[in-house]
Amino acid sequence: MCSNKKEEADQYIKQNKHKINNQYRLNYHLMAEYGWLNDPNGFIQYKDMYHLFYQHYPYESVWGPMHWGHAISKDLIKWDYLPVALAPDEDFDSDGCFSGSAIEKDNKLYLMYTGHVHTGPNKKKDYKQLQCLAYSQDGIDFTKSKHNPVIGSYQVPENSSKKDIRDPKTYKVGDYYYTFLGSNDKCGDGQVLMYKSSDLINWEFVSVIAKGNNNLGENWECPDLFSLQSKDVLIVSPQYLNANKADFTNIYSCVYMIGNLDYNIGKFEYNDFYPIDYGFNFYAPQTTIDSKGRRIIIGWMTMWEKEYPTHSNGHNWAGAMTIPREITLKDNKLYFKPVDEIEKYRSNEVALNNIKLNGEKTFDTYGDSYELQVVYDAEEASEFGLKLRANNQEETVLSYNKKDKTFILNIDKSGIGSKGERRTKINLINNKLNLRIFVDKCSIEVFINEGEKVMTSLIYPSKDALEIEAFSKGQCNIELLKKWDIE
Ligand code: FRU
Repeated sequence: MCSNKKEEADQYIKQNKHKINNQYRLNYHLMAEYGWLNDPNGFIQYKDMYHLFYQHYPYESVWGPMHWGHAISKDLIKWDYLPVALAPDEDFDSDGCFSGSAIEKDNKLYLMYTGHVHTGPNKKKDYKQLQCLAYSQDGIDFTKSKHNPVIGSYQVPENSSKKDIRDPKTYKVGDYYYTFLGSNDKCGDGQVLMYKSSDLINWEFVSVIAKGNNNLGENWECPDLFSLQSKDVLIVSPQYLNANKADFTNIYSCVYMIGNLDYNIGKFEYNDFYPIDYGFNFYAPQTTIDSKGRRIIIGWMTMWEKEYPTHSNGHNWAGAMTIPREITLKDNKLYFKPVDEIEKYRSNEVALNNIKLNGEKTFDTYGDSYELQVVYDAEEASEFGLKLRANNQEETVLSYNKKDKTFILNIDKSGIGSKGERRTKINLINNKLNLRIFVDKCSIEVFINEGEKVMTSLIYPSKDALEIEAFSKGQCNIELLKKWDIE
């Protein structure tokens, strides 16, 4: 079975994209050109361009049979759309081309992805997942391998689900290719499986490299694994991970573990796991390494089973990616920093220094698409923070509570869409709090203390909610406030 489903999808997008309502379209984040987007896929730098694919349903602003959308960029910020790369048009992927990764081999660009296939009438329960390969000479036009599926159900070990086994992350070490799949042990624990190959086509199961211990969710999605400064880092997105105080309070979470992977025996030793992001909307990230040696992560800046106002209000699109972030390792923790390229897009600088504050202050600058840097010296204040995207009725509140050593994001009054609060403990450094905030139409990303923690959330304020205010209970000093528009 082969069809022209890719061309159909491209045609549909072309004919319908004028129907997009731009009210909440982001200025410097990647979205689908039309319809639905979820996980980032196949993130890679290939022939000097960054390629990012994404889970895509082009026909509606809801999840549906998955295609792979495709965009390229020179600088990770401004993306151009390319034709749909994969469509569900073969027996081994008839109900969806699910998430996966990209790798270069012999100058060709390979995509390794999961074919989702229904096996009975109950689509929620009756399905299998197979690992597949596609390749391209030019990085644009992809052909599915005649060897598909390259990892079939018979290659899944006994102690692993044959249904939920997906999202291959593939890379090469020495003479071998390795791929890592997210799955579960059929007894309630998520796990990652490792396979090995010398040609990307013939794969041999090695082992379960890591699993939860009744403490890390029921199923793991979207594994990513990389080495950083002599450590190995495993990222997974666990489903139904129980909340632990303020951590893991979203329906699905995203965690990282720092350890060591022994490729010979296929064991990843780790001690602890941590959230990657502390906001409402961050899931299923992918990383890549680029020619500058940077390890860069990009996440799906949405979340399953949430309200999607751009869908319910008929705007004909839903889903966006985070800003790509460079990862570094410090004191056995990951730090995240927006890639430097974002700075090229700054304009209209506003810079203020040493503002003593006890009470509230509205600044003479505003916007819905900007970067803001603020350094507070807490001085005598018990609580201080910012109100962004504010007008008479609306505000998105960022605050720091000194007694609880807690940073709080509150979106109860952020406009339409989900409400709530996210909290995380973080220490002041020499009594100072350093915030770097990116606001883009319907998103906010807050990098706290040089990326020690990050909070990412979607907000849907009114068009005129543009004010920027600061507040403090007791005196604080805003040592520095810098703002740039980013368009
Ligand atoms: C994660 C995920 C993946 C799957 C894809 C389907 O968000 O559930 O595990 O491949 O989305 O769109």
